[in-house]
Amino acid sequence: MDKEDADYLISLVRAIPGFPKEGILFRDIMPVLADARGLSILMDALVSNLSIANDEFDAVAGLEARGFLFGPALAERLGKGFIAVRKAGKLPPPTVSESYALEYGEATIEIERNAIREGERVLIVDDLIATGGSASAARDLVISCGGVVAGFSFIMELSGLDGVKALGDYPTSSLLMMP
Ligand code: ADE
Repeated sequence: MDKEDADYLISLVRAIPGFPKEGILFRDIMPVLADARGLSILMDALVSNLSIANDEFDAVAGLEARGFLFGPALAERLGKGFIAVRKAGKLPPPTVSESYALEYGEATIEIERNAIREGERVLIVDDLIATGGSASAARDLVISCGGVVAGFSFIMELSGLDGVKALGDYPTSSLLMMP
């Protein structure tokens, strides 16, 4: 992705101060998806900026909810299947669960136990990495199911929060660094 395209995507991301609570600058990806040129640039850039080669992973796992908006489209472009990582209580049993800390309280995410084959190499995707709590929980779910985490792909990375460091030593790509 060249600078013009990156600037175009950044121009579409809406920044909302104080949402969903005081002190947060919320980065809204929806206007990028709503814009035909933005969506096309985004999908092309996700494919071409992956940190791993296409033969180094078998499936794409996306986090609810915004990882569901582009994860299946990305998987289809790459010739892979898509695995849903959902909020607790949405998937039928048997599931595996992982809890992680939020800024306040805790959240739990789940995966269907049989969604991942033993040794299957999984690329984990989400729209944004902040502190890395939900992506780290998704990593642990993939491992609990017998899968191998091949890498991570994010659209936006909030710089200064060290979320990528929290993931551990995995190939990771973020399209847009957000201050
Ligand atoms: N998730 C965690 N932090 C966020 C932010 N600043 N904007 C959008 N989604 C987020």
